[in-house]
Amino acid sequence: MTQAKENAALAALDFVEDGMTLGLGSGSTAEIFIEHLGLRIAGGMKVQGVPTSQRTAECAREFGVPMVDADMVEKIHLTIDGADEVDPQFNLIKGGGACLLREKIIADASDRMVVIVDSAKMVDMLGAFPLPIEIDPFAMPLTAEKIYAALLKTGCEAGQTVLRQKKDGSGPLITDGGHYILDSKCRNIPDPVATARALAAIPGVMEHGLFIDVASVIVVGEDDHAKVMELSRE
Ligand code: A5P
Repeated sequence: MTQAKENAALAALDFVEDGMTLGLGSGSTAEIFIEHLGLRIAGGMKVQGVPTSQRTAECAREFGVPMVDADMVEKIHLTIDGADEVDPQFNLIKGGGACLLREKIIADASDRMVVIVDSAKMVDMLGAFPLPIEIDPFAMPLTAEKIYAALLKTGCEAGQTVLRQKKDGSGPLITDGGHYILDSKCRNIPDPVATARALAAIPGVMEHGLFIDVASVIVVGEDDHAKVMELSRE
């Protein structure tokens, strides 16, 4: 699996050009990309990155990728990020690493988003991976109830919704933005556009992990090569 992620990350470097400002995604595949980007920079390439999480900022620092603060950046040419699931229309589920709000802000502000995944992430229909939803902690059970209803109404086989916990078991996970994550076991999401719209309309939902019409390139890594798929979003 790691080799497949690495092949995807390496193939994504072909989209990077000197002088670009890059959105740097979060997660293990994005971190492999950042490591290779650091090697190119050491070899003379001139780019700067906008990190989508504190962890990604640490990774960029470690591998020598110059960073620009998200508050200061005027243009992002390209974002490279991983995903938890990708459907044939290039819709994504993201947020397995709890960074979906900042990932979506940066991807949406970018001219182009290149997604790097191993082939296990490619699905016919989104939803087997529990959908991460970033919410304000205030009145969490009320928001969770609204989310459950919205999922059912838009055709998901909505099951259990779980408040994500910290790995050390010391309480709910808090995102970089100070929010909770609910993981909703949808099983399938037959109409991602409708589900995304319904979730976005709920007060208390800061952002959801459905990335619709954002990615224009998917790089799918296998153990011995990577396949590049492009969609025109003109
Ligand atoms: C982070 O919040 C996520 O959106 C990641 O991009 C996603 O979980 C993919 O992570 P991996 O590359 O570690 O599978």
